[in-house]
Amino acid sequence: MTAIHADPGRFQLFDQKPATPHMAAEVVRGLKKPQKAIPPKYFYDSVGSRLFDEITRLPEYYLTRAETAILKANRAAIAAHVGSGRCMLEYGSGSSVKVRVLLEACRPAAYVPVDISKEHLTTSARAVFQDHPWLAVYPVCADYTGPFELPPPVAALPRLCFFPGSSIGNFDPPAAEAFLRNTAEILDTGACLIVGVDTKKDAGTLLRAYNDAAGVTARFNRNALLHVNTVLGANFDPNGFAHRATYNAEAGRIEMYLDARQDQVVRVNGETIEIRRGEALHTENSYKYAPEEFVAKAERAGFDCVSLWQDPQHHFMVLLLRAR
Ligand code: TRP
Repeated sequence: MTAIHADPGRFQLFDQKPATPHMAAEVVRGLKKPQKAIPPKYFYDSVGSRLFDEITRLPEYYLTRAETAILKANRAAIAAHVGSGRCMLEYGSGSSVKVRVLLEACRPAAYVPVDISKEHLTTSARAVFQDHPWLAVYPVCADYTGPFELPPPVAALPRLCFFPGSSIGNFDPPAAEAFLRNTAEILDTGACLIVGVDTKKDAGTLLRAYNDAAGVTARFNRNALLHVNTVLGANFDPNGFAHRATYNAEAGRIEMYLDARQDQVVRVNGETIEIRRGEALHTENSYKYAPEEFVAKAERAGFDCVSLWQDPQHHFMVLLLRAR
């Protein structure tokens, strides 16, 4: 009588302890730039991961619903192309909701969710393991924007990569291309990347998605300051900052800021940072792509585009790419 759920060999956390040593230097460097900035990965502590989950359910945030609908409508085609028995990697897995649409159809041998937010990652990965007892689940706590190691049990498996949520849009365009090129190199020839990307559209729809009426995005944005306070012992007053999201049509991106409501002096890791009233801290960009624009980028980075699917309103796209 073997209890599959209790088999420790098929569920294991690989904690690569991201950020901690680099965070202080990175945050201080960002705050000393002429345009002060906080790197977006600092949104995602436990509170931030929960707030982001709330964002994905907001009426204005069409991205998650559109992407889920595309995945559901095309999962048979995806499964037919990728085949079973692979190691399915997911970058920035968060609550691992979307991947569930693909798991039963694609039948990978292992699922490796990679996320920087350890508690949330562990809870979500364990839930996937409990709901799919045939699947080995090896969560990796790491910063996927840098190099990280794959769990030894999956090292020899052929790979499949899932990168949903338009997280690729949070890199600037040259970095997005470098990231794709790097991913193509990690994957064996013929291996697939399934990537979700938000499209260029009317500014009103975009702006509403990042300025929700309930103010969840504002709380999420300010949480980056609380996270820096907790980890680095800084003394940001989150109420001293106002959330602002604008659409830069020329650059094709939503820009996210925290605007100082008054002059403030903040201590971060032994350094004094002066912020003037009205000065903005830049926290995130979210680039939007036209379908042909993203396909050209993927092809330059070493992929062939197998399929590109959109929702009926063309608000979002999912691409199935094959490494050359
Ligand atoms: N990848 C998501 C996006 O670009 C991240 C995100 C959604 C986000 N809402 C946000 C980041 C608000 C910062 C602030 O849509």
